[in-house]
Amino acid sequence: MGDAAGNTRMLVRYLFVVLAAVVAAAGRLVLAEENNGGAGWHVYSTSPEPAPKHPCLENPTNMTENTGGEAGEVVHDYGGLQCYVTGYRRSRRAVILVSDYYGFRAPKLRKIADKVAYLGYYVAVPNLLLGDPYTDDPARPFEEWIKTHSPVEAAEKTKPLIAALKKDGMSSVGVGGYCWGGKVAVELSKTEETKAVVISHPALVVVDDMKEVKCPIEILGGALDTISPPQLVHHLVKIFPDAPHGFACRYNASDPFAVKTAEEARADMVKWFDKYLKIIKW
Ligand SMILES: *[C@@H]1O[C@H](CO)[C@@H](O)[C@H](O)[C@H]1NC(C)=O
Ligand SMILES: *[C@@H]1O[C@H](CO)[C@@H](O)[C@H](O)[C@H]1NC(C)=O
Repeated sequence: MGDAAGNTRMLVRYLFVVLAAVVAAAGRLVLAEENNGGAGWHVYSTSPEPAPKHPCLENPTNMTENTGGEAGEVVHDYGGLQCYVTGYRRSRRAVILVSDYYGFRAPKLRKIADKVAYLGYYVAVPNLLLGDPYTDDPARPFEEWIKTHSPVEAAEKTKPLIAALKKDGMSSVGVGGYCWGGKVAVELSKTEETKAVVISHPALVVVDDMKEVKCPIEILGGALDTISPPQLVHHLVKIFPDAPHGFACRYNASDPFAVKTAEEARADMVKWFDKYLKIIKW
């Protein structure tokens, strides 16, 4: 494994993520995830209680929390995208981290990027929501907002960034995606552009996507995640016990168990890239 042939082998054949509907145990809540390429989802409640939030929108990112200083910087045009970049180009291996609905400014995502860079990668976090992250603005419900943020289109916009990274001397490029970014990463895994992909608590990913994956892909799921629940996720997948959706990038920093789970997910992602992103010797 790890040679060129290994890199192009599809490692996950059958993955069952979000198919049609997940019925919560109590039966009073139905979350329906439509298999329509990510155009939208709906929350239905049959009880008079207010509908619980969609798991992707629970524990929203705290955009103002103190990050203790970022190691990287924002560049305004890298392959046509604004990006947070961190690490050294001489690392020769690049990782693109794709955000969830809360966008590339999320402090915890930038911390993850800095840590991955520290472990030996040149890391770019593109502004693929184009400065328009999801906010809890009632005037603009999620169903409306998501219509203007297709992950499939975002994957297309990422291709020039990958080209720019290669032009800057990167031997190989991996992609790590969270939630919405998981779908972006899966779209890129269907091309020859990337050598390894890791998706954490993915959203909008369907079983047919997996049939087209061309590079080694690792899926990190949470046992409590109803968006990509463990009973629907098989093969080369790691399920973190007691972990909700969002556990890898929107964890509760005051909760030692949540912090440990997020750190483990990050370490697993880096191990995957260590294994499959090779430096081609000059
Ligand atoms: C977000 O982080 C800031 C700075 O640490 C803190 O003052 C604030 O209470 C946090 N907000 C929420 C909703 O947790
Ligand atoms: C975060 O974890 C702390 C410690 O377990 C807990 O007191 C707090 O309520 C949690 N915050 C949220 C938003 O769940």
